[in-house]
Amino acid sequence: MIMSRTIDTLLEESRSFPPSPEFAARANVNDPGIYSEALRDPQAFWAKWADSLHWFQRWHTVLEWNLPDAKWFVGGKLNACYNCIDRHVEAGNALRTAFIWEGEPGDSRTITYGEILIEVSKIANALKELGVQHGDRVCIYMPMVPELAMTMLACARIGAAHSVVFGGFSADSLQERINDAEAKVLITADGGWRRGGVVPLKKIVDQALDLGCPSIERVLVLERAGAPGTITNGLATPEYDRGAWQEGRDVRWADIVSRQSDVCDCEPMDSEDLLFILYTSGSTGKPKGIVHTTGGYLTGVAATTKWVFDLKDDDVFWCTADCGWVTGHSYVVYGPLANGAQVVIYEGAPDAPDKDRFWRIVERHGVTVLYTAPTAIRTFMKWGDAYPKRCDLSSLRLLGSVGEPINPEAWMWYHEVIGGGRCPIVDTWWQTETGSILITPLPGITTTKPGSATQPFPAIRAAIIDEAGNDVTPVQGALGYYSCASGSDAPTTGPAVGGYLAILDPWPSMTRGIWRDPERFFDVYWKRFPGRYFPGDGAKVDHEGYFWLLGRVDDVMLVAGHNISTMEVESALVDHHAVAEAAVIGKSHDVKGQAIAAFVIIRSEIRYESDGLIAELKAHCAAKIGAIARPDDVIITAELPKTRSGKIMRRLLRDVAEGRALGDTTTLADPAVVNALREKYESEEG
Ligand code: WT7
Repeated sequence: MIMSRTIDTLLEESRSFPPSPEFAARANVNDPGIYSEALRDPQAFWAKWADSLHWFQRWHTVLEWNLPDAKWFVGGKLNACYNCIDRHVEAGNALRTAFIWEGEPGDSRTITYGEILIEVSKIANALKELGVQHGDRVCIYMPMVPELAMTMLACARIGAAHSVVFGGFSADSLQERINDAEAKVLITADGGWRRGGVVPLKKIVDQALDLGCPSIERVLVLERAGAPGTITNGLATPEYDRGAWQEGRDVRWADIVSRQSDVCDCEPMDSEDLLFILYTSGSTGKPKGIVHTTGGYLTGVAATTKWVFDLKDDDVFWCTADCGWVTGHSYVVYGPLANGAQVVIYEGAPDAPDKDRFWRIVERHGVTVLYTAPTAIRTFMKWGDAYPKRCDLSSLRLLGSVGEPINPEAWMWYHEVIGGGRCPIVDTWWQTETGSILITPLPGITTTKPGSATQPFPAIRAAIIDEAGNDVTPVQGALGYYSCASGSDAPTTGPAVGGYLAILDPWPSMTRGIWRDPERFFDVYWKRFPGRYFPGDGAKVDHEGYFWLLGRVDDVMLVAGHNISTMEVESALVDHHAVAEAAVIGKSHDVKGQAIAAFVIIRSEIRYESDGLIAELKAHCAAKIGAIARPDDVIITAELPKTRSGKIMRRLLRDVAEGRALGDTTTLADPAVVNALREKYESEEG
């Protein structure tokens, strides 16, 4: 599938980029010996990182592992918010910049560690007044404003778990997530700026609550966009629906937060207490509530932020992800703040008001480390070099990539046009479930190859597993820091070996499970290759031990770097009255990595005009799930290719959608079906 297609082009890549001696000399870590040291005693390695955090009470046991249940730093008590804010203030850094924020209209704020301590304490006290207690879940549905990050920290401060739902999700998706987590309080804003318009968040919240969210007691609403006509940095807020205020349920941020005391003690949390739930798509229609706890998660994100991004006191770090995704949790909020970093946050679109917005932000704030996604990089490539070239990007010293495999061409463009040829690139592989980066270069040590996420982070062992469950990893460790995972005498030269990626040992920031669904947790991640974690990705390892990630091997699509399950889109489609049956696949796309293609069978009694219906079905998916789930192609068909046992052959649909020669069709019940489909696809495409 995805594997066989990308692999050949990827592995023709022979360029390599060693760290410059100057970069290596100043890097936070530059001794290759750390790899073998970490593997000799992984628990000691992680314990050392945990010791760099502040604990109210130190743990007594580093790890208790009863597959699939891990407990890290057992017996320890700490608070994530204390580690991200208070301890920096107590160390005399109250005046240090924490957030440099830009709203889309160009309004901006710089907030120091001292100021966030005050603001977060007030938000925390407001949450308490609204009845939130240790162990409760709080749902956050906000634009990328500093209050979003501060609300996450306020939850952590009082021991409530947050569940952030990306502001692009629909009312249905929001409702489903609220109900699964049984959130008590929902925090939102009137609206957030996006590409000159306003996303009507409060209105969508009203719709979600109308659908039924019995656990929600109060809704806290931040005024961000303001009433239509409000002027922000010279721009008037356009018309948008601000929703209907419901007295008793809805509470204005300004009415409750500002009058709170600015002192709020941090709740001492058990190392294994819930820090947050974050929903991600799986191969069924129901999203998985990925659970992360406190001590191990914070240890993992603090360690990876410091070593992968080489963060120093004078760095200005910008991870462009929204806090609605795990990248925003780990590398906008917890990892950088645990390191006392200066963090850039941007609210809006990369082309508002013009296509140079990102580069203006880099220039204006002197961003030194930039972490973004391949889909964004390919978009910038398409827009052309003129936009970055007219900005001063000389402050940049390190670049990062995450979310999907980066094609060598985009890697080279990023390196040359954005990095001026001088910045190392860290292509970081990880997932919502892993909590922090697991496969990545260390920029002061690793020689990078465009398209490869290189090697497991120290103390992590990754392997390639074949269909039968055998470890077929040829070699681990580019410079032979450590040898074969399988203990075999595999050669260190020769062709790359491909298969399923697996992680061999537990690590501190690993998910502790799927919220209230231990069975699914075991089945999805631990059943396929007993004893090993199966992330759902395919990968190859080359003769130097470099990992080349090849995309998902399950029914999860990666659209612009975001997980969307084919099932979820299929259920949205069959929810439409005209649709009898639907099959959805991810087809490769130049910019987004994958785009959604849907094949639908229309109920026989429905009369329709196909253009109108196709547009309606696309809009229906966006309304049911969110704009990211809008299919690029909807193909109306009389039949779907099925095996004799009735299973839809998605592989053939992918062949059709990507215009390839058809693969093996011998198991098809009726081979004529795909040929008819192909003719139809070709005539309707574009
Ligand atoms: C899936 C996880 C991790 C934050 C953003 C996505 C893919 C992620 C890479 C990379 C190749 C990558 C994988 C993974 N992925 N980073 N550097 N190279 N693939 O988090 O939504 O949980 O998605 O994204 O397929 O399983 P997520």
